[in-house]
Amino acid sequence: MKILIVGSGGREHAIAAAVAKSPKADKIYCAPGNAGIGQIAECVPIGAMEFDKLVAFAKEEAIDLTIVGMDDPLVGGLVDEMEAAGLRVFGPRKNAAILEGSKAFSKDLMKKYNIPTAAYENFDDPQKALAYLETAKMPVVLKADGLALGKGVLICETLDEAREGVRTIMEDKKFGAAGNRMVVEEFMTGREVSVLSFVDGKTIKIMSSAQDHKRALDGDQGLNTGGMGTFSPSPFYTEEVDAFCHRHIYQATVDAMAAEDRPFKGVIFFGLMLTEDGPKVLEYNARFGDPEAQVVLPRMKNDMVEVVEACIDGTLDQVELSFEDNAAVCVILASEGYPVSYEKGFEITGLKNFDNKDGYYCFHAGTAKKDGKIVTNGGRVLGVTAKGETLKEARANAYEAAAWVHFDRQYMRRDIGKAIDEA
Ligand code: AMP
Ligand code: GLY
Repeated sequence: MKILIVGSGGREHAIAAAVAKSPKADKIYCAPGNAGIGQIAECVPIGAMEFDKLVAFAKEEAIDLTIVGMDDPLVGGLVDEMEAAGLRVFGPRKNAAILEGSKAFSKDLMKKYNIPTAAYENFDDPQKALAYLETAKMPVVLKADGLALGKGVLICETLDEAREGVRTIMEDKKFGAAGNRMVVEEFMTGREVSVLSFVDGKTIKIMSSAQDHKRALDGDQGLNTGGMGTFSPSPFYTEEVDAFCHRHIYQATVDAMAAEDRPFKGVIFFGLMLTEDGPKVLEYNARFGDPEAQVVLPRMKNDMVEVVEACIDGTLDQVELSFEDNAAVCVILASEGYPVSYEKGFEITGLKNFDNKDGYYCFHAGTAKKDGKIVTNGGRVLGVTAKGETLKEARANAYEAAAWVHFDRQYMRRDIGKAIDEA
C-alpha cells in the first residue's frame, strides 16, 4: 500500500514509525513531514492546510490510505474533502472533529449525555461572562472555544485575574477567532491522565494510558506548552479508574456522537482528571496526543495499518488491541525560550547514536535539513523515547539517551515521570 501521513511533528514521526513496521506499507509519504520523518518516508512539500493540493497529490500518486495526524486539518474538514474525492482516509469528518474544535460543543455534549466533567457555562458575550464571574467560585478556568495550540486555557486564582482573562480571550482576541465564544469552568484538582482510543463510529478500543507534562519548567512551573514529556502507562490509571471510564465515559462519548448524527471515526484522546469524586473529562482531542503518541505507539503490538483500516471499515470490534508489558518515557528536547520565542537553525549532532538501538527512539518535531545537516527548526525539536521494564527504568534510559544528542540553546525538563515515584 501507498500511505500518506499529514503533519510534521513528533506525533507524525511516531505514526510513520508505527506504519513503517506494517508489512502492508510499501511506500510512505508525509506532508509536509520533517528531517527525521524523511528517513522513513518521502516528504512532500505540501502544507497540512493545503487541502486541494493534498487531494490532488493523493489522487495522482494513487495513495491507498491517508492518516491525518494534526488537529487543524481535521477540524477544517480535510477528511470530508478526501472522501468526496473517493480517497480512503483515517480521521474524523469535520462534523465529528468538532469534539475537539469547539469546547462549548463538547461541554454541551457531555452535559446532555451525563458524561462526567467539570460544571460550566458557555458565553458569547463578554459582558455576560463578566457578570457571571462576580458570583463564581475561585479559582475558575476560562477556555477559548476553538483551537488555540493548547494555549487557550487560563486558570484564574482571583476575580481580577478572571476579569482580565475575559478581556484577553473575548475582547483582545489573543487566541483569535477561537475566543468568539468562551467556556467558564469549575476548577478541578487531581491527577491528569491521557487516554487515547481507536474508534470506528460504533466501537471504541482503548490504548495504554499516558501522562503529559504541559508546563515548560521543572516542578510544573512556567508557561503551558504543547507538552514537554510523557510516560506510559500511568500508574494512577488503575483497574478501578479504567472500569469507571468504560462505564461512564468512553462508550458514552462514542454513542453520544452517533446519536447526534456525527459518527466519530479516528482517534479520540480523552484528557481525564482523576478527582476525589471520580474521573472527569477535562477535554477531548480528535487525534493522537503529541507527545503521548511517542510513548504509546512504540508499545503497541498490533499492526497499525490493520487497526486504522478496521476503524475506516467499521470492523474494530474484531480487533484486539495489545500493548507490551513494559513502560516508555519521552523527554522533549526544546529550544531555549520555547514556548515564547526562540532561535532556529542550530546543527543537531549525535543522531546516529540511535541507529540500531532497540527500544530507543529519537522522534523529530521541529527539525529541517540544511546543507546536508539536520538543524533545529521549532520550539519542540526532538522527542527522545526509551522503553524499560518499569517506568523507572524507562525514565533512566530516556535521560541517558537524551544526552546522546546535542544542539545549541537546548533545554529539557529533568523531572519527566518523576510523579511515578509517588505511585
Ligand atoms: P485543556 O486544553 O482543556 O486540556 O486544558 C489544558 C490544561 O489546563 C489541562 O491539561 C489542565 O492541566 C488544565 N485544566 C483545564 N481545565 C481544567 C479544570 N477544569 N480544572 C483544573 N485544571 C484544568
Ligand atoms: N499532549 C497534549 C496534546 O496533544 O494535546
